Amino acid sequence: MDTERITDLTKDEVFQAISSQISLCKKCSLHQGRTHPVPGEGNLNASLFFVGEGPGANEDIQGRPFVGQAGKILDQLLESIALERSEVFIGNVVKCRPPGNRTPLIEEIRACEDFLLAQLGLIEPKVVVLLGNAALTALLGANHSISRVRGTLIEHQGMNFFPIFHPAASLYRREVFEQMKQDFVTLKNIMKEKVK
Ligand code: URA
Ligand code: SF4
Repeated sequence: MDTERITDLTKDEVFQAISSQISLCKKCSLHQGRTHPVPGEGNLNASLFFVGEGPGANEDIQGRPFVGQAGKILDQLLESIALERSEVFIGNVVKCRPPGNRTPLIEEIRACEDFLLAQLGLIEPKVVVLLGNAALTALLGANHSISRVRGTLIEHQGMNFFPIFHPAASLYRREVFEQMKQDFVTLKNIMKEKVK
């Protein structure tokens, strides 16, 4: 039966299907500049789903998220609470690199959001960590300030969101990195409650 075949698709197969659609996507002008789209990667049973902004130069070349300098910072933060990349999922608001790493435009965020929502629906994480303003705007709207809401759990449409600064914001700012480390400790404590 057809219905059986549909429900028989594994999570991995559904993820691959979403990724193929991303590879073919021309819904916004960002497709013009991409070398590779970056659909995101990680554990499809993850309790934590990290949402970045969009691919940078290294990500565009490799087709993988957070493999440049911001990625090193994210790795350090994950390590600070004893988490491996393989335990979490890491995605982005837009899957194709914005020219010169500019912030994605609201129309690009909207054009790409079905892919992010499909990934969230597939993985069903306990907490969605929003890395910086683009992710905050994409998932919670434009009326929040990241410095005000960072490090707090926000429930919205049946999902738990945890906004923090973008790792790149701490590149040359030690105090921002320290704040992010604190937010990761908060996150670890929240996860102890959520995953039992
Ligand atoms: N910055 C992002 O927001 N996403 C990446 O994948 C890499 C850097
Ligand atoms: Fe499609 Fe998203 Fe790439 Fe735009 S950024 S072309 S919406 S995959």
